[in-house]
Amino acid sequence: MAIAPWTRRHILSLADFTVAELDTVLQTASSFNEVLQRQTKKVPALQTKLVATLFFESSTRTRNSFELAAKRLSADVLNFAPGTSSLSKGETILDTAKTFLAMGADMMIVRHQSSGVPQSIAAEMDRLGGKVGILNAGDGCHEHPSQGLLDLFTLCTSIDPVKPRAQLLEGKKVAIVGDILHSRVARSNLWSLTKCGAEVHLAAPPTLLPKTFESYGATIHWTLEPALADADFVMTLRLQHERMTQYLIPSLREYHLRYGITRDRLKVCRPEVKVLHPGPVNRGVELSSDLMDDPALSLISQQVTSGVAVRMALLYLMGSGTGMAL
Ligand code: CP
Repeated sequence: MAIAPWTRRHILSLADFTVAELDTVLQTASSFNEVLQRQTKKVPALQTKLVATLFFESSTRTRNSFELAAKRLSADVLNFAPGTSSLSKGETILDTAKTFLAMGADMMIVRHQSSGVPQSIAAEMDRLGGKVGILNAGDGCHEHPSQGLLDLFTLCTSIDPVKPRAQLLEGKKVAIVGDILHSRVARSNLWSLTKCGAEVHLAAPPTLLPKTFESYGATIHWTLEPALADADFVMTLRLQHERMTQYLIPSLREYHLRYGITRDRLKVCRPEVKVLHPGPVNRGVELSSDLMDDPALSLISQQVTSGVAVRMALLYLMGSGTGMAL
């Protein structure tokens, strides 16, 4: 498989990623996955680089796996926590980013509860003429590109662990179930999965799944069963209470009864079906607790593990501007 040269300074969205770029990420992540199996898990690839993680919104998986990925690549890492920063004294987000630029950051990993913040920081950094790369680590309800890419890597490696590639998803049925309305993960996955030729089916109550999602190339269902029928993969999504401004579901119990994924519900899927969830999970709501912990059916731990290799790949590609095999 040929690997495309990397030309992106920023990674803000998967909407305009090409299949060749998706394959470059998959192949580079696969190389780093091998590195992570070795006794010495560190490589000197980014030893002159400074990575700053600017998380204005809470995170466990994304922040820690970016930090670990940067350290495995021998980069220096600066972590920013809003609660103990000068934001509390009135400093703006852009001035915060400029402060890290002045300290010599080569890459900034940005999460914010409002859509568009990483894009605004990237535009300001470009305007200042710097070479810093901005990576969107989740902005509001808009996108979460590194989650979309680690989900893609997890799906592809579950089919072919040796040579994960976009083509493996051609014709596969992927059901995405849950709070689609507020989900940046659903949007990033939609772009990458449809580009790979997967058939994406979305299922949620009508209040959490507007019909406009059809225009993104997905089939939408307001009941669960048709979405699950013959599915190869089922991606469940968290109910994002913090983004719900009104009562959009009758109750958590009612939601679980109608849309919760259980072993019984999976009987209509393909026999080898696998279940994913980006985390954090509301146990017993989006999916049953026993299913979540069953390694024969759940790829949830695998998603977290894959996250380090995929984020190493993204930092490496942005930091070295290359798609060359390692
Ligand atoms: N999946 C995800 O973004 O998790 P965190 O919020 O813990 O980073």
